[in-house]
Amino acid sequence: MKKKEKITKKAVPSGVKVVRTPQLLRGMKDLLPRDEFVWRQMRAVAQHIAVAYGFMEIETPIVEEASLFIRSIGRGTDVVEKEMYVFEDRDGTKVALRPEATAGIVRAYISHGMQNMPQPVKLWTLGAMFRHDRPQAGRYRQFHQFDCEAIGERDPIVDAELMVVAYNFLRDLGIDVRLDVNSMGSTEDRARYVEELLAYLRTKRSYLCEDCKKRLGRNPLRVLDCKQEQCAPVIEEAPQIIDWLSDASKNYFMKVLEYLDEVGIPYMLRATLVRGLDYYTDTVFELYAEEAPQAHSGEESGQDGAQTALGGGGRYDLLFEQLGGHPTPACGFAIGLERVASHLRSIAAENTASRPLDRPRVFVAQLGEQARRRALHIIEDLRRAGIVVRHHLGKPSLKAQLELANKYGTTHAFIIGQKEVQDGTIIVRDMESGIQETIDQKKVRVEVEKIMKG
Ligand code: HAM
Repeated sequence: MKKKEKITKKAVPSGVKVVRTPQLLRGMKDLLPRDEFVWRQMRAVAQHIAVAYGFMEIETPIVEEASLFIRSIGRGTDVVEKEMYVFEDRDGTKVALRPEATAGIVRAYISHGMQNMPQPVKLWTLGAMFRHDRPQAGRYRQFHQFDCEAIGERDPIVDAELMVVAYNFLRDLGIDVRLDVNSMGSTEDRARYVEELLAYLRTKRSYLCEDCKKRLGRNPLRVLDCKQEQCAPVIEEAPQIIDWLSDASKNYFMKVLEYLDEVGIPYMLRATLVRGLDYYTDTVFELYAEEAPQAHSGEESGQDGAQTALGGGGRYDLLFEQLGGHPTPACGFAIGLERVASHLRSIAAENTASRPLDRPRVFVAQLGEQARRRALHIIEDLRRAGIVVRHHLGKPSLKAQLELANKYGTTHAFIIGQKEVQDGTIIVRDMESGIQETIDQKKVRVEVEKIMKG
């Protein structure tokens, strides 16, 4: 300790003020250029799949009235009680950073009179959410969701289609998925079930963990979701919600499952699946990766070892009335993109060939002032044709530019110098073999396209 102080004093001349660099907040994450290919891939697949299934894009504000989330997600939930970023705005309004996308989309649907549009109104969004969660692998305080909502229709085919969209999004990204489903029935079914569950859990109180003992008073359903080993035997023996569904709820759920069978999407019935937000009725579902991702440097490992869901959702037919809208049935899901990214990095590490092919493969290098000017035109012509190439026009040394071309992993360098400017030619260098050929500058575009096709 003493030694360290001595070194610090020596390193900083007297009279010089040490300026501390502000640190990244706990649970927050920078998305760095090295993560870019994965995020670009996720965004592209999200947009493609949402459009293919007829969803329209919507963007709601990150900051909303806190009451929007308190009334939607529920007072007794962890998200509202422990995790929501709530603060008083300068005008005294109690506001919150959105912890999820559904409530904001429902507010937007009501406030923009979307009930007058052809139903269902299918909306999708992708953006940052905030939860003051306990930071560990897969849990961040700022994270991103890909969210889809189908609003205005109560039909089992809508629920099934949303599961298909969520499932296919992950499959299209190359992730093997497991779909878990359950039904929470109507409010009445759930109330009868909660009574039964509570009576059972009270008889087992002494076997439950401290958190679950507290849950008995506030939200007994959450006990079913507890990951503590000591609670597992109690949960296993607990009454199952499926046995408490009315015939109507049961029939609805059966139809959802039939449609899933029809499209050949495998699923698992999970009786303990209840979800962490209060607004659900009937169908609920969660998606898990078949294989856990490998841990990456800089990620803390999960403390309870339990597998975390990549996404989840369900039907929420009563939420609109709770928020002062007309009764409107709806169903949706959200997928956590940090968790998906973690899987994609594992896949990419195993198989480098799975990297997208749209990474620039060509580097344009120049030597001399005239060549630099000519290179500017070449790069601009290619960009107009929709072709992205790497370059570093600020570097005068050809050696330094070729080193960069190697670092970027480009396969070919197009080199232009004084002589080539005069001849109207350009040198094409294969970065691996070092073999070079000279081509006409007019052929640059065709040549680059050939290289990109690989
Ligand atoms: P959720 O299950 O709370 O549902 O969140 C969906 C997904 O967001 C999770 O499965 C997870 O991948 C990701 N996620 C949640 N919290 C975190 C966190 N702290 N760090 C990283 N990722 C996280 C909802 O949000 C509902 N709005 C889904 C929905 C849409 N239901 C109907 N429509």
